[in-house]
Amino acid sequence: MDNILSPEEINTMRIPGKVAGQFLKQLRRIIRPGISTKDIEIHFDKMLARYPGMDAAFKGYCDYPASLCVSINDEIIHGIPRPEHIIKDGDFVSVDLGIKYKGLFVDTAYTYPTGKVSAIGRKLLKVGHNSLARALKKVRIGAYIGDIGSTIQNYVESNGFSVIRKFVGHGIGRVLHCPPEVPNFGVENTGEILKEGMVIAIEPMVTSGGSEVAILDDGWTVKTQDNSLSVHFEHTVAVTRRGPCIITA
Ligand code: MF3
Ligand code: CO
Ligand code: CO
Repeated sequence: MDNILSPEEINTMRIPGKVAGQFLKQLRRIIRPGISTKDIEIHFDKMLARYPGMDAAFKGYCDYPASLCVSINDEIIHGIPRPEHIIKDGDFVSVDLGIKYKGLFVDTAYTYPTGKVSAIGRKLLKVGHNSLARALKKVRIGAYIGDIGSTIQNYVESNGFSVIRKFVGHGIGRVLHCPPEVPNFGVENTGEILKEGMVIAIEPMVTSGGSEVAILDDGWTVKTQDNSLSVHFEHTVAVTRRGPCIITA
């Protein structure tokens, strides 16, 4: 199994995981109105170049043309960085990045508000962020995949928002994506049971409108069909005897 790892491998994964977490924290300072989504990628490439042995995990994955994904407002995921795509005041910028190190992958995402954002956007951001925090608390040996999905779905829907169903979290480790699927919806006590050493990416995608998605002409960018606002938060997390180990913290 590509996502059942030894304690040593999990420790190794924490090295790129910590770097990925630091990058997301540092990006907050550069993501602002006036810069392009390509500028964010250039910044990421520069940061990553300082870490020998670490590579951008998305570049070339299924022919994806960039080293990270930047999705704005109604774009949910897989936005391709572009020099002509300039961030405006009030935009919500979702950055998803992956790093490969010693044959192991980590994957993490965060949505940043810029400038003066709407009240609904602020609430969406809070609910999206909290939904991931709540889901992470469910990660333990013997828990079900459905416990994660139901936690996210119930919390999000009780706040009047929707989860995306077409795209899901996943197993991760020796590959970027592998089973099990980790949906942002589901039923408690159903689905696969989490085992010691299992590593998964939990990634709620939450919208202020409906769940339906559309793909842009570039073949990659996934947006909300109703043009509603979307946020995305993701952590890579390992199931250990001491509970959840958030690799990308
Ligand atoms: N990071 C995405 C995920 O969370 C996958 C990106 S693959 C790419 O699973 F090819 F679009 F980069
Ligand atoms: Co990701
Ligand atoms: Co992922």
